[in-house]
Amino acid sequence: MKGIILAGGRATRLFPITKGTCKQLLPVYDKPMIFYPLSVLMLAGIRDILIISTPHDLPNFKNIFHDGSHLGISISYKEQLKPAGLAEAFILGEDFIGGDSVCMILGDNIFYGDQLSGLLKRNVNLQEGGSVFAYNVVNPQRYGVVEFSDDGKPQQVVEKPEHPKSNWAVTGIYFFDHNVTDVARNVKPSARGELEITDVINSYMTKGKCHVEFLGRGMAWLDTGTYDSLIDAGLFIKIIEERQGLKIGCVEEIAYREKFISKEQLLKLADEYKTSYGDYLNRVVDFRYDL
Ligand code: G1P
Repeated sequence: MKGIILAGGRATRLFPITKGTCKQLLPVYDKPMIFYPLSVLMLAGIRDILIISTPHDLPNFKNIFHDGSHLGISISYKEQLKPAGLAEAFILGEDFIGGDSVCMILGDNIFYGDQLSGLLKRNVNLQEGGSVFAYNVVNPQRYGVVEFSDDGKPQQVVEKPEHPKSNWAVTGIYFFDHNVTDVARNVKPSARGELEITDVINSYMTKGKCHVEFLGRGMAWLDTGTYDSLIDAGLFIKIIEERQGLKIGCVEEIAYREKFISKEQLLKLADEYKTSYGDYLNRVVDFRYDL
């Protein structure tokens, strides 16, 4: 399975913070936002990853990740010239996806919870159809929302409905088979002129080919789209990290734990950061129990 991180858009709702940089490079406590979705793909065991962003921001992602080899993964890059919708990622990623299935994750989505790794590993072998993750929220109007049939089966997803029929928002992790590029090509732009991801999901769902995983109470799916939700996400990470002494979304640690890199490689990465982040990486090799 291939992985795509979509990190485009102008994030005008965060102006002036995002006037000079894209949202996905903003800090969420002790690391850039994109570390969190990248860590999700790595936890799924995905090692071939494409980052899609604007021509302006793509060089900054390259400055951080280069070709990914220091993390034992391969990272390539693709420009999205203008924000034409999430589904365009599957068209831009056509050559990259090739004949494989793909997991796309949005560069501003933060997930946390014990269930996560198992859920990801359960979906990463998907060969046919699609799979999306839904999360119960108080403000479903902001998201793609799952609608159910009378017998409780997911029927369709409606993008930002005025009167949502459920509280189950579709989160920004999407698994699809290799047909997704053709499906995306057949999507017509919506009223706001974008190729909507919900149309791609519905194309699979109406054929009974899209599975929905429901994320339970013990999971956190955090928003970063407003001043308040951005700082709340940072505080959430800070509180858990300080209490447990374990980092969230630490891509170097995950690379080591997933055995993508050796102890020596991790220690070399630790040496580059003269901060408490670097100290943490030094300690990771000494953790005695698998956490
Ligand atoms: C996008 C999708 C929406 C999804 C959300 C998850 O919305 O269009 O279906 O629920 O991401 O983050 P956006 O936040 O880009 O408006």
